[in-house]
Amino acid sequence: MSIDWLELEKTARNWIYEAASLIKQSLANPIQIESKSNPDDLVTEVDRAVESFFYHKIQKTYPKHLFLGEEGVAEELDSLKGTVWIIDPIDGTMNFVHQRYNFAISVAVYHEGVGMVGLIYDVMNDELFHAIRDQGAYINDEELVPVKERPLHESIIGLNAKWLVQEKNPYRNPLKALVRDVRSIRSYGSAAIEIAYVAADRLDGYISVNLSPWDYAAGVILLEEVGCRASTFKGEHLDFLQKSTVIVGKPDLHKEMVSSYVGEEL
Ligand code: IPD
Ligand code: CA
Ligand code: CA
Ligand code: CA
Repeated sequence: MSIDWLELEKTARNWIYEAASLIKQSLANPIQIESKSNPDDLVTEVDRAVESFFYHKIQKTYPKHLFLGEEGVAEELDSLKGTVWIIDPIDGTMNFVHQRYNFAISVAVYHEGVGMVGLIYDVMNDELFHAIRDQGAYINDEELVPVKERPLHESIIGLNAKWLVQEKNPYRNPLKALVRDVRSIRSYGSAAIEIAYVAADRLDGYISVNLSPWDYAAGVILLEEVGCRASTFKGEHLDFLQKSTVIVGKPDLHKEMVSSYVGEEL
């Protein structure tokens, strides 16, 4: 039976609003914070609770669908066969903990490896960025227009400045050159929001040396609808099962950033 993507998107949207109200309620009480891979890699009980919330909703409503999420509520996946929900329950956990602001719920649905539905909800700003494949991208009810190019020297790029000072980062010099040449950089602390901002023409591009599939799975569906590009630093297709470098932007800008800057490690 074929899937009614409009209906599925509506269902996902309702779950997102329900999860967002759970997150907001959690802000009324002290939140338990732990570290994962290093002291700055934070996770809270709310991240896990929201991922569980989606996992159980999906299992009940779409029992044949598969699940890939950051906090490991479901078993690991080794392929994108079938219908797969890729979810980041809170993107921008550090912001959630420190600012109680600038974090998002990111939900993507892929069918046989193709991105069909992408939703990124900026919880505190009440902005839902959403798209269904071939049906345009929106912020709440406002349709996003196809992007207009801007020359690199007039562009604003989303980039975490920490990448410029980490000696282990093989892309440190290309990134420094890029930062020197663009008009300016911004760092919001949520990859999902920053990618959505590129689709919404609030940023011209966004770059990260290391992201996971749930950070960009929904964002790339939005980008496709407005004619933007997303790839690894080498210009290759993004993999939705492992971490990678990520560069997104308006097509000409994306091409220039890959070919003249990050395409090679220096
Ligand atoms: C993080 C955020 C952050 C990005 C990190 C991600 P999380 O996601 O998107 O902006 O720089 O690489 O891991 O851990 O808050 O879901
Ligand atoms: Ca995390
Ligand atoms: Ca994330
Ligand atoms: Ca997360």
